[in-house]
Amino acid sequence: MNIQSSEPLARTGSRNPRILALANQKGGVGKTTTAINLGTALAAIGEKVLVLDLDPQGNASTGLGIDRRNRRVSTYNVLTGDSPLAAAVVDTAVPRLSVAPSTLDLLGVELEIAHDRNRAHRLRNAIDRLVSGPGEDPFTYILIDCPPSLNLLTINALAASDAILVPLQCEFFALEGLSQLLRTVEQVRSTLNPKLSIHGVVLTMFDPRNNLASQVVADVREFMGNKVYDTMIPRNVRVSEAPSHGKPVLLYDLKCAGSQAYLKLASEVIQRERKLKAA
Ligand SMILES: Nc1ncnc2c1ncn2[C@@H]1O[C@H](COP(=O)(O)OP(=O)(O)O)[C@@H](O)[C@H]1O
Ligand SMILES: [Mg+2]
Repeated sequence: MNIQSSEPLARTGSRNPRILALANQKGGVGKTTTAINLGTALAAIGEKVLVLDLDPQGNASTGLGIDRRNRRVSTYNVLTGDSPLAAAVVDTAVPRLSVAPSTLDLLGVELEIAHDRNRAHRLRNAIDRLVSGPGEDPFTYILIDCPPSLNLLTINALAASDAILVPLQCEFFALEGLSQLLRTVEQVRSTLNPKLSIHGVVLTMFDPRNNLASQVVADVREFMGNKVYDTMIPRNVRVSEAPSHGKPVLLYDLKCAGSQAYLKLASEVIQRERKLKAA
């Protein structure tokens, strides 16, 4: 797709949240699961978190217990300019965790905003308005759950984000997809968003009994070095059961290996943030 450059609104003040895009053009790698559960874990350790659902499938919204009937205002309305982002934000059962839900309407948004020179900055501008708007208790993290494609929705997410967090499933073609994603990040950095960085790669659905998985882990660590988080998310049936109960796995079964891994990942994300701030 054609990524056109255009000027975003300036972002000012110290109330700025850290904005992380969970992106990988491959489906089924754990983007949504990570958005839900990293978001929950960050909220559990005191951050104020918004999960912004940018996938028309709306799985992050469902997994956080937001019924389709209760998505009166969605990220579709935000991107078309019909509603401010603040109007889409709803609370979840997790204290300090909110979600801006999506609906299937998002499938058509690309055509609807195609005429706009600023189409790649729609999300960024909406977030800027949210951040500069009134409110006592600002978000400290915004996690954007991207669709499984490098389309205009994902480009909007990358243009709006401080950094990208890449969930990667430990399987044979993982590195190939990663190279393509990194090229897109480069492209966005040189046109739409010069400050976009790579926060890290999180290996998901790791199964230590699978020899190939261990080889992929070694390859990814060699290719991406210390960008790969130490924490790996294990394949864990509790993680996959939780969404059907409309709950993050941390609420469904706090003790299970998946929940514990997401808590570890959250503290690693925060540690990296501290290092970035100190640098
Ligand atoms: N750690 C895990 N253990 C077991 N199943 C998982 C795990 N992470 C994700 N899944 C399952 O894998 C599928 C794809 O995950 P999902 O997060 O929806 O991927 P994506 O958003 O990248 O398409 C879902 O059914 C999810 O429940
Ligand atoms: Mg998803």
